[in-house]
Amino acid sequence: MEAGVVFLLLLASLGVALTDTFHGDSISFMPPKRNSDGTYKVTFFHRQNSKGNCKNESTFTCDDGVCTTFSKSSVLPTDKEVATNPRWCQSEGRTTATVSTNKNSLTLRRSGCCWEPNVQGVGVSWTSFAELDLGTRSDTRSINSCPVTTTVSSLRVPQNCFSKIRLLAYDPDRDKVRCRYALNATQVPGITLDETACTLTKTGNITTGVHLFVLTMEDVTTKNITVTYADKTTTYREESNTRLPPLCKVKVQFSVEVTDSIPNCEMGHVQPTFLSRTPSHGDVLHATVGQTFQLYAQAQAAHSTIQDFQVSGPHNMTKAFKDDQFGKAEVTLSWMPQQSDLNRFVPVCFTAETKKTQSEMRCVVVMVTQSSITQVRAKVQCEPNKMTVVLEKASIPDIDENFLQLRDPSCSLTSNSTHITGVMSFTTCGTKLEEKGDFIVFKNEINSFVLPSEVIVRRKTVKIDFSCQFPKAIEISSYYSVRNSDYIFTESSFGSFGYTFEIFRDGNFTKKVEASAYPVEVKLLQTIYMGIEATSELPNVTVFVESCKATPDDNPDNALSYDLIKNGCIRDETLKVAESPQTEFRFQVQAFKFTGNYDQVYVTCSVILCEPGSQFSRCAQGCLKDPSRRRRRRGLSKETVGHYITQGPLQFVGQPVPKAAEEGLNVVMQNDDVPATVISPPAAPDTKSSKGSWEFKRMLSSNVTAVVLGSAFLVSVMLLAVVIHRYSRKTRVEDTKALIASDYEN
Ligand SMILES: *[C@@H]1O[C@H](CO)[C@@H](O)[C@H](O)[C@H]1NC(C)=O
Ligand SMILES: *[C@@H]1O[C@H](CO)[C@@H](O)[C@H](O)[C@H]1NC(C)=O
Ligand SMILES: *[C@@H]1O[C@H](CO)[C@@H](O)[C@H](O)[C@H]1NC(C)=O
Ligand SMILES: *[C@@H]1O[C@H](CO)[C@@H](O)[C@H](O)[C@H]1NC(C)=O
Ligand SMILES: *[C@@H]1O[C@H](CO)[C@@H](O)[C@H](O)[C@H]1NC(C)=O
Ligand SMILES: *[C@@H]1O[C@H](CO)[C@@H](O)[C@H](O)[C@H]1NC(C)=O
Ligand SMILES: *[C@@H]1O[C@H](CO)[C@@H](O)[C@H](O)[C@H]1NC(C)=O
Ligand SMILES: *[C@@H]1O[C@H](CO)[C@@H](O)[C@H](O)[C@H]1NC(C)=O
Repeated sequence: MEAGVVFLLLLASLGVALTDTFHGDSISFMPPKRNSDGTYKVTFFHRQNSKGNCKNESTFTCDDGVCTTFSKSSVLPTDKEVATNPRWCQSEGRTTATVSTNKNSLTLRRSGCCWEPNVQGVGVSWTSFAELDLGTRSDTRSINSCPVTTTVSSLRVPQNCFSKIRLLAYDPDRDKVRCRYALNATQVPGITLDETACTLTKTGNITTGVHLFVLTMEDVTTKNITVTYADKTTTYREESNTRLPPLCKVKVQFSVEVTDSIPNCEMGHVQPTFLSRTPSHGDVLHATVGQTFQLYAQAQAAHSTIQDFQVSGPHNMTKAFKDDQFGKAEVTLSWMPQQSDLNRFVPVCFTAETKKTQSEMRCVVVMVTQSSITQVRAKVQCEPNKMTVVLEKASIPDIDENFLQLRDPSCSLTSNSTHITGVMSFTTCGTKLEEKGDFIVFKNEINSFVLPSEVIVRRKTVKIDFSCQFPKAIEISSYYSVRNSDYIFTESSFGSFGYTFEIFRDGNFTKKVEASAYPVEVKLLQTIYMGIEATSELPNVTVFVESCKATPDDNPDNALSYDLIKNGCIRDETLKVAESPQTEFRFQVQAFKFTGNYDQVYVTCSVILCEPGSQFSRCAQGCLKDPSRRRRRRGLSKETVGHYITQGPLQFVGQPVPKAAEEGLNVVMQNDDVPATVISPPAAPDTKSSKGSWEFKRMLSSNVTAVVLGSAFLVSVMLLAVVIHRYSRKTRVEDTKALIASDYEN
């Protein structure tokens, strides 16, 4: 009786449907364990996608009677759209299998009918599948771990906006992961699978409708290893031998609904785009048993409303959604891992959802560790040219600091009584550069080392990975409420470099106008001093200002604009370039304003950094009357692309224009191709703009001395702190895979 009630409740909560359509699934394994009696314990989590309410999940079977016990916990929904007819629902179940002794591998499968109706037809049957090797690897001294992946339940993309889908493919043993279409799977026309990046990219036309993707993920070892089995047999796996079967093969399957085209595919317009506080795709985050783990994501869509975030996460992960102004919304996912989750690598994927569309899918891996391990307290500070890691000694009590090193052991760590500090540039100490989508990541690690003469090690060992991550280019215009003077860009061959763009108080270029004093109040006739300074790790780089133009707002593409410098040539006769070191560019220009109802001016410059020594670099060539004739030598000159940096606004204060000055007023007429012409006699101050050309008003009389800058001009640098803060918040001590084991067993 009681069992019956439970059964009914379970039915109700799962909403078991009679027509049991399948919408895809994924399996993630815990690292398999060898029990003391010689049997293996293999635990896996299985997520199944649904539309409507979550469906019951059928149980896996174990091939050839390899498993002696098979226990499946109740399957519970993890995330479901709150709607009468939910578009997504995902459930997760946990299964623990005991595998009899002397078995070398385990194969799990289940199958059923049918997939949801799709472009292949109705009644397509499905199979879930995983195969794992149970030998012990010589490099990790453990059984191989399978690649970890999942997807959200409902993936939808407008036909004209499909560009790519990045899949999560993380291997806990740090093997490479290869994604392939599963055996018998139909390949989707118009889509190409990049097997090493695990990315589906559009390469042709794709039809609307539901497309099925049935893939397998396989791990490919990158070292030569020996695998030892329970029956004492061994296999030597040479890294270059591509004919060896993978140690693990696990299927992931999902459907993508290609919907009708929409007018604008720009991310952030109708389709939400993730904002910078959201973790990057593929990040490894850390959770501790018994402590609440939180993941924060934020997205924005200017022309639609984000209603929810769809999540594929562990059971018991809670979701707090909050919408905000300007089309922004955020979600906080919270989860407290239990003791049984220890050492689990939990895949978490999410999308931001509007009524019609969704954002890209982002996925991270959450690694669950024992509290004593992640208590290594470390701070990473990222600056444009270097990163600093500071470890708190008290948090790693049993570590002998004399046996800690950076990836390149010739770089030393320093320490005082409380902290261990490592400082490195992005090009030294073994720091590795990785491009990750829109970001560039610099990675290094601190680890314990073993003396060559040591046969046994009694110290605890530790490995702490850390990284700094920078957007490849910081979008300036989206932060216009904070007056920017700091820009950080990253290019693979130049590493990370920064620019500051400042307004100075006088021609000595020593006193900057404080960030809080923006908008900078100026009066016509006043001389404005501006300076651009580049910072780079590379020695002897030269900064070159290719163009500078003024606009009445912070949109550098505004049709109403005025060239101060173009193609490296000075175009404004009041502009004077001052002497400066080669990493700086200083100039002065007389204040001007746009005719019409505009009282602000922004200046946007395109700047290039060049390495020294090439006569063909853009920096060496200076003013080019005809830039299309520029002589280039591919590969000889190393220079960055032009980056735009903006300063402003200069705010004109309503000072009555002196009569004498008004008489000296000239109007410069210019459109893009025609050189500037000075029209006299003077025109009226508010000449109307006409189509195709525009007018620009400026005081040319220079016999009036520069007005002393107002009291709003204070001196200090503050913005740097803000910018650094933004980046340090993005960084984290990644993968504190501390191998705290006081003995290397032997
Ligand atoms: C789910 O399906 C399995 C196998 O199809 C069945 O044995 C089990 O009773 C079902 N569970 C529920 C709650 O319906
Ligand atoms: C692939 O198809 C063949 C023939 O239909 C079948 O025997 C085999 O089991 C299928 N393999 C998988 C992995 O589904
Ligand atoms: C793809 O679609 C476009 C527009 O519908 C069409 O012009 C083009 O011929 C198609 N290409 C292929 C390879 O079908
Ligand atoms: C693996 O072994 C082969 C042959 O001994 C050797 O050439 C190769 O460099 C080794 N690879 C690695 C990654 O150690
Ligand atoms: C969910 O949380 C409850 C209480 O916090 C716990 O008893 C239960 O085991 C958890 N379930 C899973 C699958 O972790
Ligand atoms: C040790 O160095 C750290 C990091 O540089 C610093 O914060 C701390 O104050 C120093 N402690 C002492 C006792 O000097
Ligand atoms: C530079 O500073 C000196 C001393 O502070 C001052 O006398 C001089 O006028 C300044 N020069 C310019 C060009 O402002
Ligand atoms: C940098 O420039 C200085 C002076 O021009 C020169 O002495 C030095 O060798 C240069 N360094 C490099 C790395 O090019």
